[in-house]
Amino acid sequence: MIRKLDHIGIAVRSIDEALRAYRDGLGISCNHRETVEEQQVETAFLRVGETHLELLEPTDPEGPVGRYLERRGEGVHHLCFEVEDLEAAMDRCREAGLRLIDSRPRRGAQGKRVAFLHPKSTHGVLIELSQASGD
Ligand code: CO
Repeated sequence: MIRKLDHIGIAVRSIDEALRAYRDGLGISCNHRETVEEQQVETAFLRVGETHLELLEPTDPEGPVGRYLERRGEGVHHLCFEVEDLEAAMDRCREAGLRLIDSRPRRGAQGKRVAFLHPKSTHGVLIELSQASGD
C-alpha cells in the first residue's frame, strides 16, 4: 500500500531563515517552492536521497500551520507516505479504526491528492497520505 516516505514536514516561522540551516549549513538543495492557498502555507521541498524535507511557513497565523507554531513552536510537523491508491488507503485506515481528518482527498502541494490521519490514532504523529498526480 505504501511506496515510500515521500517527505517529512517541518513547521518553521520563516523558510528563508530555515534555508540557512538546511541548504547553506547542511547542503540540502531546495528543488521546489510553492504556496498552497487552501492550507495557508508556503512550502519548500528539499531533496534528501529518495525522500524530501518539506519546510512549511504559514501565510496566515490562523491557518493550520500558523496555529500549530503558536501552540508547539517550530519542529517536525508531519510524515507523508506516498500510496499507490489514495481511496484504497483511506478505506483501509478507516476499516482499521483510524481517525481521518479528511473524509475525502484534497489537493496538496505539487498537485497531489492528499488526506491526513489524526495524530490521536497514529500514536502522536500527524500522517499525510499522498498519491502522485500522474497515477
Ligand atoms: Co506534506
